[in-house]
Amino acid sequence: MTEPIIVVDNIHKSYLMGKEAVPALRGVSLNIEQGEFVCLMGPSGSGKTTLLNIVGGLDEPSRGHVVIKGENLVALSENALARLRLERMGFIFQNYNLLANFTAQENVEAPMVLAKVGRKERKQRTERLLERVGLADRATHYPGELSGGQQQRVAIARALANNPPILIADEMTGDLDSETGFAIMRLVQALNEDGMTIVFVTHDPRMAEFAGRVVQLRDGKILNGSEQAAPGTPHNLSE
Ligand SMILES: Nc1ncnc2c1ncn2[C@@H]1O[C@H](COP(=O)(O)OP(=O)(O)OP(=O)(O)O)[C@@H](O)[C@H]1O
Ligand SMILES: [Mg+2]
Repeated sequence: MTEPIIVVDNIHKSYLMGKEAVPALRGVSLNIEQGEFVCLMGPSGSGKTTLLNIVGGLDEPSRGHVVIKGENLVALSENALARLRLERMGFIFQNYNLLANFTAQENVEAPMVLAKVGRKERKQRTERLLERVGLADRATHYPGELSGGQQQRVAIARALANNPPILIADEMTGDLDSETGFAIMRLVQALNEDGMTIVFVTHDPRMAEFAGRVVQLRDGKILNGSEQAAPGTPHNLSE
């Protein structure tokens, strides 16, 4: 069997509040295989965002390590880490995080500019991505001229800009009505069917049903779901 695309090995994370260390993660280990569709669930404050941010290299663990496609994030230089984030991971957030003064197409193009993709290739990719998320006719709109669901589609297109193998999403449907939320999940499901590895957080059990595996966090620890289920094994969604 090939090495998992994401290895989370005994991660601990504490935040210093004044002199007191507040534990957010307390020994989390998790392997994610290439092509998996994994959902993280758990009560508010259980450590979901902290875990996603550490997996995505946006935050550092206090102890333990994360290996993405064979690269140990903790051992990478700032530059190498930034590059890995740019090329190997797409991020989607609850509040879309689009640049307000950039049009939809400029938002999608931004990560390609950072990755030094040539202008012609950028234009072609951007057009194709906006088409894929159903927004070809909104390319020159600013985020403020788009609905929440449309803004999240732009954010998805942007996350795909450099064709990363991994997509990381924190409450991506949290601000959307359920119809729009389902449409976003179907889009992400299609990406997974094309081979993308997806890790997402949701509070909504209806959205969690899209996942192939649900990992439950409680108080900074994994309750269940740290091992990939054998093919055909139903996962347990009950709380
Ligand atoms: N920057 C920070 N400074 C101090 N404590 C933090 C920080 N970020 C998170 N925490 C603490 O770490 C714990 C886990 O927070 P985290 O944001 O990961 O939870 P979550 O599961 O994503 O919750 P929610 O469902 O509300 O988004 C919480 O107790 C929180 O107060
Ligand atoms: Mg959170």
